[in-house]
Amino acid sequence: MKQWYQIKGNRPLEGAVTISGAKNAAVAVVPASILAGECCILENLPCIDDVNTLKDILCKMGAKATFTPGDCMQIDPTGINRFSVTFDMVGTLRASYYLLGALLGRYGYAELALPGGCVIGPRPIDQHIKGMRALGAEIVLENGIVKATAKKLKGAEVYFDVVSVGATINVMLAAVLAEGQTTLVNAAKEPHVVDVANFLNMMGGRVKGAGTDIIRISGVNKLHGCSYAIIPDQIEAGTFMVAAAATGGDVIIKNIIPTHLEAISAKLMESGATVIEGDDGREFYIQVIGNDRPRAINIKTLPYPGFPTDLQQPMMAYLSTAKGNSIIVENIFEERFNHVGELIRMGAVITLSGRTAMIEGVKQLTGAPLYATDLRAGAALIVAALSARGVSNIHNIEFIDRGYEHIAKKLTALGAQIKRCTE
Ligand code: EPZ
Repeated sequence: MKQWYQIKGNRPLEGAVTISGAKNAAVAVVPASILAGECCILENLPCIDDVNTLKDILCKMGAKATFTPGDCMQIDPTGINRFSVTFDMVGTLRASYYLLGALLGRYGYAELALPGGCVIGPRPIDQHIKGMRALGAEIVLENGIVKATAKKLKGAEVYFDVVSVGATINVMLAAVLAEGQTTLVNAAKEPHVVDVANFLNMMGGRVKGAGTDIIRISGVNKLHGCSYAIIPDQIEAGTFMVAAAATGGDVIIKNIIPTHLEAISAKLMESGATVIEGDDGREFYIQVIGNDRPRAINIKTLPYPGFPTDLQQPMMAYLSTAKGNSIIVENIFEERFNHVGELIRMGAVITLSGRTAMIEGVKQLTGAPLYATDLRAGAALIVAALSARGVSNIHNIEFIDRGYEHIAKKLTALGAQIKRCTE
């Protein structure tokens, strides 16, 4: 059944929005619960397709898992009796690779069908494999399936050739029950890496240094169940901050961790928006007040704490109507400009050269029929449509449903004219 978002743009977003749990923490913490020998209760998980897909995979493997959105997910991994994750189970879930580290760490065996490539780049897993081999696993990749076996994983030093969120987390999952000390060098420092380390420690793991580029893991014999609430979503929060600025609105974004948003706050302020951090005694919030047109700025995406690649696309939509020329360099992924063609159809003037985009600001974009190509491209099209004059219809919104919980409802509450249409 075809569905699309219809957005009538050119209206400022006003009011308050509460941020959901972080997708990129959730898709790691759910598989990580396999490592416990007991039941785990996970709170603040966003109700998005990626989380539901992972729950379904765990159930097909023999675990018991129930998810009450807005409440918690209860996972009892003790019944797991299948250690191979097939193509039909994985679907388009990119983050299914965390099942490899979790199954290998807990059972010493895993077979994982790799999901197909993704439009933002080939998404290799050579660093994941390098780390697991260093721990003593034997890994074979054939027919699109990774087979990992290890009699006993032994701690080792792993130097990552590139800073990789996925590899850092995946090798951490494999190492937490390994014998002896593991040191991850050149580790990723993203907030969700720290969140997974905290979850492992809540289960009795001994992970130190997460959030720095050296993580030390002392293997333990066993992990126990626990209750854990994941962090709020840095990228969802950043998306709403950009949307507020792009529509010249005034939005309070609640349930955030300000340090996670420093790069995006700095860039929005540099572009002329007002960003105010505060706390109402219960939770932190950030207020973003846009102005009529942003100033042009330059952005380079980098690993955390640099400007996040996941916000490059929404930011480009925002800078399409800046006064002057902006330059965006995408240093993380090879092909993360698939939204550019769609923005150009709305009147944006953007030229690409390799990983560099030059955006010549125009006064205003105009609505058009649009096609999302990936999750954050979809977010970029929503930002563009909200600020554009006229009506836009955004198709392929299943990409957006993978990573943004109730986005239409949240935007409607901020005064946006957005509706989900069904053929
Ligand atoms: C995670 O992807 C996120 N996904 C991505 O978010 C995010 O853009 C990315 O980290 C960077 O922050 C999840 O957390 C589920 P990487 P991941 O490994 O782990 C190269 C979203 O929109 N690389 O940090 O796949 C890789 O090609 C998604 O929420 C290797 O060369 O990213 C890329 O160029 C999109 N070999 C760079 O490293 C490897 O073994 C960073 O990738 C692994 C990665």
